[in-house]
Amino acid sequence: MRTRDYSLNRAILAALEERRGYVSGEDLSGRFGLSRAAIWKHIQALRDDGYEIKAKPHQGYVLVERPDRLSSHEIRRNLRTAGLIGDICTFEEVTSTNDKAYEMALHGAQEGVVVIAESQTQGRGRLNRAWFSPHGKNLYLSVILRPLIPPRLVPVLTYLGAISTAEVLSDTFSLDVELKWPNDVLRRGKKIAGLLNEVKAETDRVDFVVLGFGVNLNLDTETLPREIHEKATSVMVELGHTVSRVEFTRRLLESIETWYNAFLLQGAIPVVQKWESLARIRGAFLEVKSFDDVYQGVVEGLDHDGTLLLRKSSGERMRVIAGDVTKASVQPPGMGEKRSDD
Ligand code: BTN
Repeated sequence: MRTRDYSLNRAILAALEERRGYVSGEDLSGRFGLSRAAIWKHIQALRDDGYEIKAKPHQGYVLVERPDRLSSHEIRRNLRTAGLIGDICTFEEVTSTNDKAYEMALHGAQEGVVVIAESQTQGRGRLNRAWFSPHGKNLYLSVILRPLIPPRLVPVLTYLGAISTAEVLSDTFSLDVELKWPNDVLRRGKKIAGLLNEVKAETDRVDFVVLGFGVNLNLDTETLPREIHEKATSVMVELGHTVSRVEFTRRLLESIETWYNAFLLQGAIPVVQKWESLARIRGAFLEVKSFDDVYQGVVEGLDHDGTLLLRKSSGERMRVIAGDVTKASVQPPGMGEKRSDD
């Protein structure tokens, strides 16, 4: 029978982690007031969770290898955050981590609570597009934020999510990426990560924001559905080897905290500037589909609240708050070659 007493499992794991060598069964049973047979059951449960634990007669147990499982225990080891990140709630399967976090926030979950799942049955992207969420390969993470900001600044948090993701990919995994307005992280033009920002707000105040991260980490090309084969990639495909999902998650939480603190202390400008530098969008001639309209124009950058500023060929300047952008196929003469800040 598999023991479900997770707190004892954790305590026994901690005892194995403390010691580099073997810990005797006798020592463990004395420490936890359990029979040797009960200790063995907990060891089995840890093995079922992916911990490789060797057992030797007369010597006891030794922890040989840790799993790349997105458990709170694994993520918290060597996590260098300083206050923002609260409970890390992990699930085998959810409909969507954003749904789960939203529901928890409605019931009063605090700022900094993180929801992670190994798989999602209804993972979603922007505009309700499906987000491919197979088990045990990627990261599906949502964090609850309760910033004291006016609702018009909420889109800046999407940029914050994108730059945090890009920073971890480049600094920890040596993978340079590009950002695409408003919520894509691309590698060689293919999507490697996306952000989904959902908010509960009143006219003048934000109640909470759920910032969702989908990052393709160890997804192999064969697993990708045909329809997104040409459009999506993963860290593994780009680097040619698997990466530690736990390590990625730790560094991402740290990066989110750093940028969130910068946002609260200094406002949107550092975030918007960093996003712009990674998107290299200024001066590009783009086509924007926003609701039922299509506009073309040269990007003059982002406003301080994150609105996309587009100069149409008529000279009119537009503020675009939502939509999809693509590179325009035809560029009118005299447009788009000159950067607006030249
Ligand atoms: C997009 O590119 O349109 C955004 C994709 C966001 C996917 C993540 S996965 C974790 C969280 N839960 C969801 O259902 N969506 C976001």
